[in-house]
Amino acid sequence: MINALRGMQDLQGEKAILYQKIIAVCEKIAQNYGFAYFNAPHLELSSLFKRSVGESSDIVGKEMYEFNDKGGNEVCLRPEGTAGIVRAYIEAKFDKMQSVKRWFYHGSMFRYERPQKGRLREFHQFGVESFGVKSVFEDATLIFMVAQILAELEISATLKINSLGCEKCLPEFRVKFLKFIDGKGEFCEDCVRRKALNPVRMLDCKKEHCQELLKNAPALKECLCEDCKKDFGKLQELLNAGNLGFEVDDKLVRGLDYYSKTAFEFESADIGAKAAVAGGGRYDRLISYIGGKEGHGVGFALGIERLMAILESRNLGHEREGVYLCALDERYLGEIFTLGLNLRKKFKVSLNYEPKKLAKHLNLADTSNALIFLCIGENEAKTDSIFYKNLQSKDEKVLKIADLEQILLKFS
Ligand code: HAM
Repeated sequence: MINALRGMQDLQGEKAILYQKIIAVCEKIAQNYGFAYFNAPHLELSSLFKRSVGESSDIVGKEMYEFNDKGGNEVCLRPEGTAGIVRAYIEAKFDKMQSVKRWFYHGSMFRYERPQKGRLREFHQFGVESFGVKSVFEDATLIFMVAQILAELEISATLKINSLGCEKCLPEFRVKFLKFIDGKGEFCEDCVRRKALNPVRMLDCKKEHCQELLKNAPALKECLCEDCKKDFGKLQELLNAGNLGFEVDDKLVRGLDYYSKTAFEFESADIGAKAAVAGGGRYDRLISYIGGKEGHGVGFALGIERLMAILESRNLGHEREGVYLCALDERYLGEIFTLGLNLRKKFKVSLNYEPKKLAKHLNLADTSNALIFLCIGENEAKTDSIFYKNLQSKDEKVLKIADLEQILLKFS
């Protein structure tokens, strides 16, 4: 038997229902905020991610699905969505005009991580990227957007924010930080790599030993330049004004190298160990890093599987819906076939073309999670009627087919 690869899963049944539900909520809210759908390729040149996500990140350092294609190009399955969309923004020359573009996307991302609950090798994100807007109001707007999505899904999460400074103030912090860690003892292997490439990323190392060594490390917020300080203050003011609770986390630096100024994460304890359900921030430097004209970008991505894991525990994928339509005898199959075609113009209908006893059909309708059961037998066929049962309320009656649509409209 050939099984799916480790850390990769099929989305079907309850998982598929939840996936679609989450995406529908995200899409509706993103559209309300003026974002348009964007579909970027899953495969890009590896150099795109090396340059953007950064060599110091675990993603580039250890987790990329990289290979040479038949043309000899070094390519990689996208580990995240931002870099590809920035590449597309530049490729379409929107950077030259500093165009304001607001896009949303969803789909598979690939990271060769150690699989566990809420952590897969192929997982899905819903993300948004906003280009051409310098104002910190945009950063706040995106944070409120995530909060609105989570509220609509009835998922509670805590918001952590930080400012990572800019090219003016970050170098000064880096010097201070390097001085602080100098002679501090042995950091983990990952931190040694981070120290050489982007030392600030050591701040959010998950290893207890490294965190111990980092106690009393200088805080980024104390080294911010006037502009970054002003924006970070304004961001907090806007979150407070919108009654969105948050915590300033000095150690939040995010796992990707491209951020400057605003960085944020929404964390939930409902997946088992505390885990981020969404993360994002501002990445103004990234556009010029990838070869475009200096500009502005800010975005976030939600981890769909993590949201699904929270909703799964509430049995939300089991709600009854749709119609199960069937017949007791072969003679009435033509009737249910025609009726099905008509009803499907408005309703979700599944047809069973096998004539069976009523109890058998009811059983099948029940296990298929249908809400409404409709069946034609001899008596119904003679009187242009149909047997109706609501599988939730257990209400049952014989209805005239002419009245059926009116009744079903109540449940659609
Ligand atoms: P990220 O924090 O790497 O950010 O990922 C965003 C979310 O994807 C995480 O908060 C988490 O919920 C989910 N996620 C990450 N890795 C896995 C995994 N292995 N299995 C399941 N879920 C996972 C980014 O990817 C940035 N591109 C976000 C962004 C957009 N920043 C600006 N624009």
